[in-house]
Amino acid sequence: MSDNPYEKAYQREKLARNEAEHLLEDLSRKLYDKNEEINRLYEDLKRNQSIMVQHEKLASVGELASGIAHEINNPVGFCLTNINSLQDQLPILLEACAAGSPDWDAEKQADADYLREDLPILIRETIDGLISIQTIVRDLRYYSRNSNQDAFSGADLNQGIKSTLNVLRNKISAQYQIHLALGDLPLIHCNQGKLNQVFTNLILNGLQAMGASGNLYIDSYQDGDQVVIRISDDGPGIKDAIALEIFQPFYTTKKVGDGTGLGLSISRSIITELHAGQISLVKDGRGQGATFEIRIPIEQEDLGSA
Ligand SMILES: Nc1ncnc2c1ncn2[C@@H]1O[C@H](COP(=O)(O)OP(=O)(O)OP(=O)(O)O)[C@@H](O)[C@H]1O
Ligand SMILES: [Mg+2]
Repeated sequence: MSDNPYEKAYQREKLARNEAEHLLEDLSRKLYDKNEEINRLYEDLKRNQSIMVQHEKLASVGELASGIAHEINNPVGFCLTNINSLQDQLPILLEACAAGSPDWDAEKQADADYLREDLPILIRETIDGLISIQTIVRDLRYYSRNSNQDAFSGADLNQGIKSTLNVLRNKISAQYQIHLALGDLPLIHCNQGKLNQVFTNLILNGLQAMGASGNLYIDSYQDGDQVVIRISDDGPGIKDAIALEIFQPFYTTKKVGDGTGLGLSISRSIITELHAGQISLVKDGRGQGATFEIRIPIEQEDLGSA
C-alpha cells in the first residue's frame, strides 16, 4: 500500500463507503424480505378470512333451514292429525251422502254420489302429500342437525346420507342413477350437520363432474374400528398430478360463480380436524371416475365445533 497520506485517506474512505454500501444493501434486502413476508401473511389472512366466511355461511344456511323446518313441522303435524280424524269419520259422511235427503233433486244426489267416490281419494292424496312434507321437513332438520353447535352422541350416518340425497333431490335429475349400498353402521358420536356438508360437497362434485347424466355410487360399511363411506362417480376422474392440489383452498376448475374451490378443503378439515378421520381419493371405486373415501373412527374424542 502507498505511504501517501492522501492515498491512505482515500482508501480508508473507500473501504468505509463499501462497508456502508454493503450494510445498506443488507438492510434493503432484509426490508424487502420482510415486506414479502408481510404480503404473504396478508394473502394468508385474506384466504383464511374467506374460508371462515364460507364456513359461517354454510352453518347459517343450515341453521336457517333447520329453523324453517321446525316452523313447518308443527302446522303440518296438526293438519295430519285433523285429516286423519276426518278419514276416521269418513264412513258416516259417505253413508249420509248415499242416503241423500228428501229435499235433494236428482242433480244434488248426483253431486253427492260423485262426492262419495271422490272424497276418499282426496283425503288419501292429502294425507300422502302431508306425509311427504313431513319427510322433507324431517330430512331438512336431520340434514342441518347440530351444524353449528357442539357435538352430540349417536348419529346414524346412513340416515345422514339419505337425508342429504333428499335435500338435494332437485339437483338430482332422473338422468342420474344413484346406487346405494349402505351397510350396518354403529351410531357415531359426531357432528352430523357438518358431515352432511361433506356428503353434499362430494355428491355435488360427482354430479358436476359427470355432466348431464351418469351413475353415482354411495357405499358405507364398518371396517374394524372405523366407518367407511365411499362416493364414486362415472365422470372423467382426477389425474394423480392434481390429487393433492384439489384439497387446497381455492383450487377449482369450475367457472367463476360455479365453484369457490373451498368444498374439498372444508370437507377435509371437517373430517380430519373435527372427527380425527381421513378423506382421500382411492383407485378401486365402483364408478369409472373419481372415488372419494372417508374413514371415521367409531370411538370419537369429545368434539369441538369446526
Ligand atoms: N368427482 C370429481 N371428479 C372430477 N374432478 C373433481 C371431483 N371432485 C372434485 N374435483 C376437482 O376438484 C376441484 C375442487 O373441488 P372442490 O369441491 O374443493 O371445489 P369446487 O367444487 O370447484 O367448488 P365448491 O367450492 O363449490 O365446492 C374441482 O373444481 C374439480 O376440478
Ligand atoms: Mg365442490
